Amino acid sequence: MKMCGRGITTTLAILSFFFSPAYAYDLNPLQDICVAINDSKASVLVNGKVCKDPKLANADDFFASGLNVSGNAVPQFGFAVNIVDVNNMPGLNTLGISIVRADLEPQGLVPLHTHPRASELITILEGTIYAGFLAPDAANVFKSRLFSKIMNPGDVFVIPQGLIHFQYNVGHKNATLLASFNSQNPGVVMIPSSIFASDPPILDDVLAKDFQLDKKVIKELRKKFS
Ligand SMILES: *[C@@H]1O[C@H](CO)[C@@H](O)[C@H](O)[C@H]1NC(C)=O
Ligand SMILES: *[C@@H]1O[C@H](CO)[C@@H](O)[C@H](O)[C@H]1NC(C)=O
Ligand SMILES: *[C@@H]1O[C@H](CO)[C@@H](O)[C@H](O)[C@H]1NC(C)=O
Repeated sequence: MKMCGRGITTTLAILSFFFSPAYAYDLNPLQDICVAINDSKASVLVNGKVCKDPKLANADDFFASGLNVSGNAVPQFGFAVNIVDVNNMPGLNTLGISIVRADLEPQGLVPLHTHPRASELITILEGTIYAGFLAPDAANVFKSRLFSKIMNPGDVFVIPQGLIHFQYNVGHKNATLLASFNSQNPGVVMIPSSIFASDPPILDDVLAKDFQLDKKVIKELRKKFS
C-alpha cells in the first residue's frame, strides 16, 4: 500500500514537471486584439509597439508631464482621467509599467470596470475615496466577495489583475488619486457601457435574461449609455 502511494506521488510529480503551465505558457498579450496577418504592409503592431533604433532614442522618450493637472473629464460620472502609458510615453514599451491620475468630484464615480492586463495600485493624494473590488466566490460562481476600503491621503489599495472594481468619492471636496499598473497598456473594460452600448448591440432577449429585467428596462438602459 505504502509503495503504491509513493509510486503514484512520483508519477504525479513527473507528470506535473512535464505538463506544468510554467513550462508551456504563452506570453501575456500587450493589447486587446492582435489578429494574425500575412501582408506586412497591412500590419501595425507586434504584440506591443515596434522598437525604435536604440541609437535614436532620447530622454524625451522616457519622459511625460501633465500629471500635475486633471485629465479628460467624463461629466456623466463626475471624474477625469489622465493616462501615461505606452501610447503617449514610448519609452514604456516592454517595461510592464504605467501610471494614471484620476480626479473625482464629490459623488464622482469611476464606474465598475476591469483592467484585463494589470493589477492596479491606488494611492490617494487628496480627498476621501471608497474603493473596492469583487473577487469571485470559488464555491459558487454566481456569487462574489466585495473587498473595499474608505481611503484617505496616503492610503494605498491594490486591485488584483482582471477583477471588477470601482472608485467613488464619498468626501465633500474633490479627490485625487494616482494608480500604478504592472502593464505598459493595462486596457480597460467599463462594465455598464460595454454591456449597454456595444456596437452592434447584444440582443435585448440576452440582456433581459442576464439581468432578469423586462426588455423595456433594457431599452431604457441602452438610452442612458448610448
Ligand atoms: C499566409 O501565407 C501562407 C504561405 O504563403 C499561405 O499558405 C496562407 O494561405 C496565407 N494565409 C492567409 C490568411 O492569407
Ligand atoms: C503643469 O505642468 C506643465 C508642464 O510642466 C506646466 O506647463 C503647467 O503650467 C503646470 N500646470 C499647473 C497648473 O501647475
Ligand atoms: C473640482 O472638480 C471640478 C471638476 O473637475 C472642477 O470644475 C472644480 O473646479 C474642482 N473644484 C476645486 C475646488 O478644485
